[in-house]
Amino acid sequence: MSIIKELNEEMQKIVAKAGYEIENLVLQPSGRRDLGQFQLNDAMTLAKTYHKAPRMIAEDIVKVLEEDGRFTNLNIAGPGFINITLKDEYLGKLLTEIYLDKSKNIDKREKRKIILDYGGANVAKALHVGHLRSANIGEALKRLAILLGYDVVGDAHLGDYGRPLGLVVLEIKKRFPDLAYFDESYQGDYHDVNLPVTNEDLEEIYPYASNKSKEDEAYLEEAREITFKIQNHERGYYDIWKKVVEISKNDIKKVYDELNVNFELWLGESDAAEYLDELDEIYKNSNVLTESEGAEIIEVKEESDNSPMPPLLYRRSNGTVSYETTDLATILQRRKEENPDEIWYCVDARQSLHFDQVFRAARKVKLVEDRVGLEHIGFGTMNGKDGKPFKTRDGGVMSLKALIEQVENETRKRINPETVDEEHKEEVAKTVAIAALKYADLLPFRGTDYIFDPEKFADLEGKTGPYLLYSTIRMKSLLTKGQNLELGKITKFKTETERDIALTILRLPIVLNKALDSRSLNDITEYIYKLTSLYNKFYSENKILIEEDKELQTSWLTLTKIVYDINMLLLNTLAIKVPEKM
Ligand code: ARG
Repeated sequence: MSIIKELNEEMQKIVAKAGYEIENLVLQPSGRRDLGQFQLNDAMTLAKTYHKAPRMIAEDIVKVLEEDGRFTNLNIAGPGFINITLKDEYLGKLLTEIYLDKSKNIDKREKRKIILDYGGANVAKALHVGHLRSANIGEALKRLAILLGYDVVGDAHLGDYGRPLGLVVLEIKKRFPDLAYFDESYQGDYHDVNLPVTNEDLEEIYPYASNKSKEDEAYLEEAREITFKIQNHERGYYDIWKKVVEISKNDIKKVYDELNVNFELWLGESDAAEYLDELDEIYKNSNVLTESEGAEIIEVKEESDNSPMPPLLYRRSNGTVSYETTDLATILQRRKEENPDEIWYCVDARQSLHFDQVFRAARKVKLVEDRVGLEHIGFGTMNGKDGKPFKTRDGGVMSLKALIEQVENETRKRINPETVDEEHKEEVAKTVAIAALKYADLLPFRGTDYIFDPEKFADLEGKTGPYLLYSTIRMKSLLTKGQNLELGKITKFKTETERDIALTILRLPIVLNKALDSRSLNDITEYIYKLTSLYNKFYSENKILIEEDKELQTSWLTLTKIVYDINMLLLNTLAIKVPEKM
């Protein structure tokens, strides 16, 4: 159990000793630090239960607090707010406990198995900013949930099944009509048949084919037919499609690697295909499929809806299945293969209607038990300076690679040539750029849109990734320089800043819990900034390594080590890598 929770329980005992029972007492951090470090506001509530003036109750509690010996500067404000300050000795003891055992600064939860669907890159299409957000937020949420005791399985859920693939294969057919894949008389093994297409080619082919299909109805129809052939495992088409997926997947893996994003499962929409027959059976047997102009649909409207809720398109009139249906099949697959307690989808908020439809259709036939949570964790867009979703200069979708490059151009300028030699410059510029991008991406509440501003993201001052990296590296360097000095307990504080740092450290478990509850990393990104800037203030006010009071120096170094460890823990949770130097 965390120290902060223990402290709340201690307080609960003190209140009980004063003669009052209160459930779930929670000490509040004080807004007026001159009055106290914490505030206890429960006298007001107790007044109602005990029919007594809150001030009298507060006085009873303060009396016990005074006798206790661990507290100081006890006072009552207003009608009965109790201000409480921990004695330095006690605060130091609590911090020392955390230094000795990191698990004392975390509250684990009961284990639950979560499947986290994130990343969601599409085969044969370049990754774009939307995929960046899903990968960043998803990876960090996964790490946070694991840190707090959940069992999380991340699935990349590649888009490898829909019409885009039909378009790509069609366009390849147009360009290389003689390939054995399109030769019906070919009897050999497709394994050995070369596909003369690189990932770069694919990134050019898809937009070309997509545009063409918008102007050319016959072309679109042909693509539909090919999609159908792929989905029905037709020889040749199915095989070329598998090759395309492989080429693309290799490239996608590289990008995710660079982002420090790792999936336990690399499944795609197509992997759920083997569950489509069973899914059909379930839906047919429960009579929820309706025919509509040759297509099959599921009505998902509910009486309480006050915005339009169109039916879910289950199967198109040409026989192909929709994105909704592969998501339904995937739910079935996940239940059978993983049996999770919850499935989370970290996907652009603009897909919320899609997920409403899918979840409702899933609940209709109990694809998963009611106890199994289905949750869309939506996020806002990264916008350009014009406030609109970020685009390239010619109006296209900005690829993730181009985006990283833009930030890298900024971080490169800020690398200190005295600490980083020429040979490592590029590597460091990249690590810092990715950190800058990730931190900026995780800084606002996930649902909020934000503006892409590489100059600001790369700044060495302010709420930025580089500021945190720089400060953390400096803490490490201090600890290295002081490695022969004594470290291990906190017994003394000199300034209010150090006490602030200590109190901020104690709040970590609360911040982690809040972040997981809200499925957003913004509390963590704010917290790490706050802790780091408090630390930097302390760092600039004191000369730690030449301090003559050895007891104070030990306290300072121990405090530094705790802050450094928390920074490393949190940066790692955010999947941000820290370079050796920068
Ligand atoms: N590939 C999709 C896209 O790019 C995202 C997939 C999200 N996950 C899901 N199960 N639908 O929009």
